Amino acid sequence: MSPGNRPKVVICRDMGPDVMPLLMERTDLDVVLWPENRTCDRAWLMENLPGAVGVLGMFPSQVNSEIIEKAGPSLKVVSTMSVGYEHIDLPVLAKAGVRLGYTPDVLTDAVADLSVMLALMAGRNVGETLEVVKNSQWPKFTWSPFSFCGPQLSATERSPTRTVGFLGFGRIAQATLARLVPFGITHCLYTGNPSSQADPTLDQSLAEKFKLKGVRRVDNDTLARESDILFILAPGGPKTYHVVNEEFLKKMKKTSVLVNTSRGTLVDSNALAKALKEGWLWGAGLDVVEGEPNVTADHPLVKEPRCIVLPHIGSATLDTRVGMATLAVKNLLAGIAGETMGAELDL
Ligand code: DGY
Repeated sequence: MSPGNRPKVVICRDMGPDVMPLLMERTDLDVVLWPENRTCDRAWLMENLPGAVGVLGMFPSQVNSEIIEKAGPSLKVVSTMSVGYEHIDLPVLAKAGVRLGYTPDVLTDAVADLSVMLALMAGRNVGETLEVVKNSQWPKFTWSPFSFCGPQLSATERSPTRTVGFLGFGRIAQATLARLVPFGITHCLYTGNPSSQADPTLDQSLAEKFKLKGVRRVDNDTLARESDILFILAPGGPKTYHVVNEEFLKKMKKTSVLVNTSRGTLVDSNALAKALKEGWLWGAGLDVVEGEPNVTADHPLVKEPRCIVLPHIGSATLDTRVGMATLAVKNLLAGIAGETMGAELDL
C-alpha cells in the first residue's frame, strides 16, 4: 500500500534534471524510483510493482503477463521511453485494459540524421580509413587516384541516377529521404504495408513533393535489386524477422550500401557478414544489431572492415532524449489521470 494511499508510480530510470521535476513535484503521487544509473533489476521491478497505477521505463526485459499480473488490477498505464514497442506484449496489455504510451515523432529527426551519417560513413569507407589514421598507417599510403574510393551518394555525370530504397516508409524514412534530396539522389523506392495496394497517384505526389524523377512502391525483390542506398526502417518483431537474409543480400548491387537504424532482428547478421566478405554489396552502416547489446569485437559484423557498427545511438541527442523522456512522463501522468496522452498506441 502506498504511503497515505497516494497512487504509486514506478519509474525504472532517473531521467535527469530537465524531466524528473515533472514527477517529483507531484506530491499527490507516490513516486518509486530505481535509485541506480543503470537498467533497473527485474527483481526490484517485481518487488515494487504490486499496487502501482503506472510504470515508466526503459525496461529490463519484456513487459509481459508476469509484469502486468504483478502490478495487479490497479495498473492503468505503461509508458515506454521509446518509439519501438516490440518488447511489450500488446495483447496482454489490451486484455488487462492497460493503456500504452510511447514516444514517436520526437526522435524522427535525430534518427534520420544518423541514418544519413551511416550511409555516408559506409559508402566512403570511414571505418577502414579511420583505422588507417589511428594505427599510424597514413604515411604508408601515398596518394593514388583510386585508393579508398567508394560509391558517391549523389548522382554524377558518370552515374546520372541514384536510387535510394526504404524497407519501411514511415516518418523516419520520409525524414531521411527529405535529407537525401539535396545530396542529389534521383529516384526513391519503398515497400508498403502488404495489407494495402500500391497507389501510382500517391507515388506521383511523393515524387512532386520530394522533387525526384521517380518514386515507386515495390516488392522486396525489386528493392534489393535496384537500390543504391538501402535503408531498413521498419518495425522489429516476428513479421520482419531476418527479412534481409542471404537471398535478399545476393540480389543487391555490388556498389550498394545498406543502413539499418531500426531493429537488429530485421537483418541476418551472419548473412550480412558473408555478403560483405564476398562483396555482394559495398558496405553497411548499422546502429542496431540482433542480440545487442551483447555485440563485441569478435562479432562477425564488427570484424568486417566495410561495416560501421554503432551502439544504438539513433535518438542520442540531448534535445531528443529530453523530448522522449518528457513525452514518456506526460504520457504516464495523462494515463493515470484518464486523460488523452501525447502519444498512445491504439491497442
Ligand atoms: C526507440 O525509441 O525505439 C529507439 O530505438 C531508441 O533509440
